Parts: sequence; C-alpha cells; structure tokens
Amino acid sequence: MEIIEKAPAKINLGLDILGRRPDGYHDLAMIMVSVDLNDYVTLTDWPGDEIILESNNCRMPLNERNDVYKSVCLLREKYGIKRGVKIHLEKKIPICAGLGGGSTDAAATLRGLNQLWQLGLSQEHLRNIGFEIGSDVPYCIEAGCSLVTGKGEVVEPLAVDLSSWAVLVKPHFGISTRTIFKEIDPHTIQRVDITRLAAALLANDYPQALAYMGNSLEDISISKHPFIQKVKDKMMKAGADIALMTGSGPTVFALCANEKRADRVVNSMKGFCREVYKVRVLS
Ligand code: C5P
Repeated sequence: MEIIEKAPAKINLGLDILGRRPDGYHDLAMIMVSVDLNDYVTLTDWPGDEIILESNNCRMPLNERNDVYKSVCLLREKYGIKRGVKIHLEKKIPICAGLGGGSTDAAATLRGLNQLWQLGLSQEHLRNIGFEIGSDVPYCIEAGCSLVTGKGEVVEPLAVDLSSWAVLVKPHFGISTRTIFKEIDPHTIQRVDITRLAAALLANDYPQALAYMGNSLEDISISKHPFIQKVKDKMMKAGADIALMTGSGPTVFALCANEKRADRVVNSMKGFCREVYKVRVLS
C-alpha cells in the first residue's frame, strides 16, 4: 500500500509571547493559517524493520536528525511496531524559513503512518505525539486556521474565511528559531493582541484583522537581519495589504485580497530575492 500525504506550509497571522516558562520555553499565543505551498510525504510498506528516507532535496538530513525519521521512530516505539517503511519526502517548502516545513512533514508522516499501519489514532492523540517532536507539530496535524496557545500544544480551529493571496519571500539566509527565542526580553517585547485578532477574523472583518496582525519576534529577527525590514518595506510599497514576518523568520509574507496586487508584489520582489511564491491562503 502507498499513502501520499500533502504537507502544507503555515504562516503566522499573529504571534505573541506571553512570558518565559521555568523550563526555558515560552508561553505563546498564535494564529496560524495554512498556505498552498506543499511538501508531499509518500509512505510505502517496506520489508524488515528498516526506515528508508529519500528526498528530492539533497540538503535534508535523511537520518535521526530529520523530524520525519523521528516521527517514525517515536510511533514504532510507542506502539511496539516492528514494521519497516519507505518514505519519499518531496520538498517544496524552504528550510529554516519560518514556514513550518519540518513540522508539517512530521505531522504528515504521523497522519500517513496512522493510515498505513491502521493504528486508528484520534487527531488529539496524533497532536499529543506530534508535540514530542516539536512545538508546531500539533497545529500541523490539523492545519487550516487555528488559535494555538500554551507551548504550542493547545490547538483550537477557527472557522475563518480569509480568501486572500499571500506572496512569500524567503531571503537567502536561514534563521534558527532557538537563537531568536534566546534573545527575548519578556519585559520589552512588542506585544500582539491575539484575542482581538481572532475576533476580527471570526467576524470576517479584514481591515480590522490587518490592524491587529503582528509578530512579537519580528524586532529581534530584524535587529539581526535588517534585510527583513527591507523586504517588508518593498512589499508595502508595491501595494501589499500587510507585510509581516512569519514565525522567527526570515520569510516575509504579504497579504493581498486582490490578485492583481499580489502579482504586482511578486513582480517587484523578483529581482530582489530569488525565492518568491504566490500562494492562496487556505483557511
Ligand atoms: O519545539 P521546537 O523544537 O520546534 O522549538 C524550537 C525552539 O523554539 C526551542 O528550542 C525553544 O528555544 C523555542 N521555543 C520556545 N517556546 C515555545 C516553542 C519553542 O522557547 N513554546
């Protein structure tokens, strides 16, 4: 049997840091939404107990350091499964970009193995297992538009209809999430009102939602990489409704309700950055 799981990228319409926890992690409040830029995880039964991981992207580690590989190991360990599996990971989402690429691949692997091995695990169960792999994995099990709180483990789907275009610009460098989180000063960090953002989105009030969108990590990432601010400014000048960094960066997304505007943003960014994607927001 062969299972093909689509793994969509995410963007953060809002990301707020509530404070540092005793374990060094942070309490977060985020609104995440999927976009139509996808990796594909293809899972096939494999004789013996070997895990074969292949990818079109030669920069991916194809071993225990990969979240896909970790997901297989974790599921086998938890349920005493001895089966082998062959996985092909078709990467389209840029790596170390703030687009949740590794997390969405792990989530797709868990969903796919749940089917392939007929485990019958609930979404909630898969979210809990995913949380052992990474903080963004529980959200990625659901995808779509969600309010995410706690360390990332509390996921509340939001019935939002955001029929907008997003232009994603990935600068030439990557950012390590851990490095950015280390710089957080909970007393001075720029806050984002996620409750009001959620209310505006649920009321389908696009202008109000734009006013409440924001990312608490943006200032830190921009101070280390001023190029991110340049991307934002250029996108706004080209007519974006908003231009915001996603996750800990460095990718910046522009939202455009109007497709022609999105095309204009794409054209203005093409000579500036090599990786530019025009995608639909999947809420
Ligand atoms: O969970 P994950 O490995 O994806 O997190 C990457 C890094 O992000 C962690 O090492 C931590 O520094 C930071 N983080 C945090 N608080 C969270 C989630 C992530 O400080 N709630």
